[in-house]
Amino acid sequence: MDKILEKAKSTNNLTKSELVQILQNDELNEDLFTLADKIRKDNVGDEVHLRGLIEFSNICKCSCKYCGLRKDNDILERYRLTPEQIIDFAIKASKYGYKTVVLQSGEDAWFSAEKVCEIIREIKKFNLAITLSIGEKTFEEYKAYKEAGADRYLIRIETTDENLYKKMHPNMDFENRTRCLKDLKKLNYEVGSGCLVGLPNQTLNSLADDILFFKEIDADMIGIGPFIPNPNTPLSDEQGGTFKLALKVMAIVRILMPTINIPATTAMETLNPNGRIIALQSGANVVMPNVTEGDYRKKYEIYPGKICINDTPNQCRNCIESKIKSIGRTISTNYGFHIKTK
Ligand code: SAM
Ligand code: SF4
Ligand code: FES
Repeated sequence: MDKILEKAKSTNNLTKSELVQILQNDELNEDLFTLADKIRKDNVGDEVHLRGLIEFSNICKCSCKYCGLRKDNDILERYRLTPEQIIDFAIKASKYGYKTVVLQSGEDAWFSAEKVCEIIREIKKFNLAITLSIGEKTFEEYKAYKEAGADRYLIRIETTDENLYKKMHPNMDFENRTRCLKDLKKLNYEVGSGCLVGLPNQTLNSLADDILFFKEIDADMIGIGPFIPNPNTPLSDEQGGTFKLALKVMAIVRILMPTINIPATTAMETLNPNGRIIALQSGANVVMPNVTEGDYRKKYEIYPGKICINDTPNQCRNCIESKIKSIGRTISTNYGFHIKTK
């Protein structure tokens, strides 16, 4: 095996220039994916944790340049589920055997802290772990959700390149994004972050910085996804990220952070029909099947070609279960919290 990979294996650490070397050299890819798969197996085992994803509102006050939910996208038909619908989908998710639901939305101010807390308290009655993915909030709001019973929070840094961050996020602030991550850690959430791979003018150097940042913040989960250009955004003509590079970043994250949870992301499967299984064999140990019902799936159009938009929660559950079993992995029956052994 290559010297850098040997070092990564024995120390779970690499310098920025070593990271860049792996990212730019495709000859090492097979060794990289095999090593990430072994480290996944040795540290988090063969179980795959399923998290049922509820996309409860596509209304967003932000204008992230890459995202179809951005407020300036007039073409998108907007929706907002009622708290009753959200709770109903969560209860159904628990009946399908999910141990966690992920509540995700645009930054929709209609969902006040009070409303979110009420939804959390209702869902907690069904013994589900709750992950929130609802954007940037104040310390007090994060605290209120935690006290109501939220367990985890996903908020990707998207990119650690501050110039690129500014270009991609008009009216948003990198400092505030990192403040959110720090507040969530202070409040004892399991904290998930991640980045987009293939943003316009993103360099391998900056991806290496992203990886080092995930280690520095001691994340519990890291989701890596290729950027997929959306025709109804200012980035419609961009090239977007590749499956291969996103997979490489994900595999390196596994090697450097052996015990964390890493999802095989939906965006990976959008670029490759077998993307989630390949990701599960290259370091990932989590899948987030959609449990949103009806037409809402189509309307949560972050990027084009999103998978499962015509499928039901039941179909997704059966589909993913058979895929996971086909590669000799098992579906976890526990909550799948991050267990730190190192
Ligand atoms: N609004 C919340 C937030 O931004 O944290 C959660 C919802 S947002 C739709 C979830 C994730 O979608 C973002 O963190 C971003 O990485 C991803 N995303 C948005 N647009 C995308 C695109 N065009 N291609 C791939 N992923 C995208
Ligand atoms: Fe809104 Fe999140 Fe999309 Fe940004 S990424 S526009 S915050 S939904
Ligand atoms: Fe939705 Fe396969 S996971 S149809």
